[in-house]
Amino acid sequence: MKKILSTRVFVFGLVVALATPGLADDAMQIPGEAAKDGFKLSDQLIFPPFNPVLGRKLFAEKGCVVCHKMNEIGGEDGPDLTYGKYDTPVNAMEVASDLWEKASIMIPAQEDELGSQIELSPEELAGIIAFMADPQEQKHFSKADIPADILKDMEEM
Ligand code: HEC
Repeated sequence: MKKILSTRVFVFGLVVALATPGLADDAMQIPGEAAKDGFKLSDQLIFPPFNPVLGRKLFAEKGCVVCHKMNEIGGEDGPDLTYGKYDTPVNAMEVASDLWEKASIMIPAQEDELGSQIELSPEELAGIIAFMADPQEQKHFSKADIPADILKDMEEM
């Protein structure tokens, strides 16, 4: 009985944390390792792993860096996504909703600059969001993370 209750409180805390931007500071936290393994809000609602190390790699490889700055590195077509420049604490759902809202601008820009729209699996998007929310991991971001073809796209802009 006690276990069921605490699970409910935990899920409630999470739902409040994700749904209410102003409450994020007081909201219950999922321990870092659990977030990195993925987690459940309920039996009907799951989240993939939020892995900032994967996100760092993808931010460069997928080409976000061509248009967005991170840790002083990257293009200026889109806004700087370094922690502190983007709204903090980073709300994962806000990032998803911003991507949706800006899709009509970003997709043609990607077709233009990269040749096609960037495709992201749920795990890949979660990784990039985790990276946007991890100033420590961002400090490790350098030109060495950027593959040669992406560097070429950056130079051509
Ligand atoms: C070809 C250029 C380009 C690429 C590549 C690109 N973006 Fe963007 N992005 C933009 C532009 C331009 C905007 C701003 C649209 C506006 O606000 O008018 C934007 C907006 C955004 C926003 C919303 C920012 C805000 O403050 O509203 C997010 C988040 C974002 N991009 C994330 C990404 C991620 C993550 C990637 C890689 C998976 C990516 N973008 C790849 C050009 C790009």
